[in-house]
Amino acid sequence: MEKEIIRLNIHFEEGFYTFSDQIKSQMRPLTEYTLGNFFTDDKPLNVEIGIGNGEFLCHIAEKRPDEHFIGFEVFRKIFRKAISKVQKKNLSNVKLIQYDASFFVPLLANNTVSNFYVNFPDPWPKKKHNKRRLLKPEFLKIISDKLIPGGKLFIATDHDDYAEEILINLKAVSELKPEFENYFVNELIDYYPTKYYRKFAIKNKVYFFKMVKL
Ligand SMILES: C[S@@+](CC[C@H](N)C(=O)[O-])C[C@H]1O[C@@H](n2cnc3c(N)ncnc32)[C@H](O)[C@@H]1O
Repeated sequence: MEKEIIRLNIHFEEGFYTFSDQIKSQMRPLTEYTLGNFFTDDKPLNVEIGIGNGEFLCHIAEKRPDEHFIGFEVFRKIFRKAISKVQKKNLSNVKLIQYDASFFVPLLANNTVSNFYVNFPDPWPKKKHNKRRLLKPEFLKIISDKLIPGGKLFIATDHDDYAEEILINLKAVSELKPEFENYFVNELIDYYPTKYYRKFAIKNKVYFFKMVKL
């Protein structure tokens, strides 16, 4: 049976955010999906995956009003906190999507994203859960395809084992080159501390990766 291709309709309520229910109701079995353009201009597009309470995204979106920002978060309760932050700051350049980024990012057009940010992705520390980690080579390759040439991927983690895996997986994506001599640094002077960083990572060794698409 041939796969049907459905164009997903994403209506951003109040221009800012959408909940997963709106997307889920359009899903069908044996279906592929495409997306319309979220933005109708050529301003730089930035994507944060796993925004948590949205502090980091709001901070960079406020500083860069002439760029667009999309934030993904799966967990509804903190997604609502992120919405409140965006609304309080009246950030019309931010769109929030409560959905799994690994479903959505592949639907973005290739060569359209200027920066991806992944702050403290869930490390799934138990060995038997390691396979649930987001930053696998396949997904990193997809991220690389979505980046414009010269576009950047920022990753922060405080989990030694995940950092080791991220390093191996990044090395497998030939289009991404490290900005730092040894792929990561343990201190970033201008890093805007996320809630996770302040609560947990500040006591730990943090690995900051910055990759650039060739
Ligand atoms: C450890 S928290 C870090 C939150 C925030 N970035 C910070 O630094 O405070 C990881 C976040 O990623 C979200 N997340 C995990 N997998 C995701 C996915 N596939 N798509 C979108 N969000 C995801 C989780 O719900 C969680 O809020």
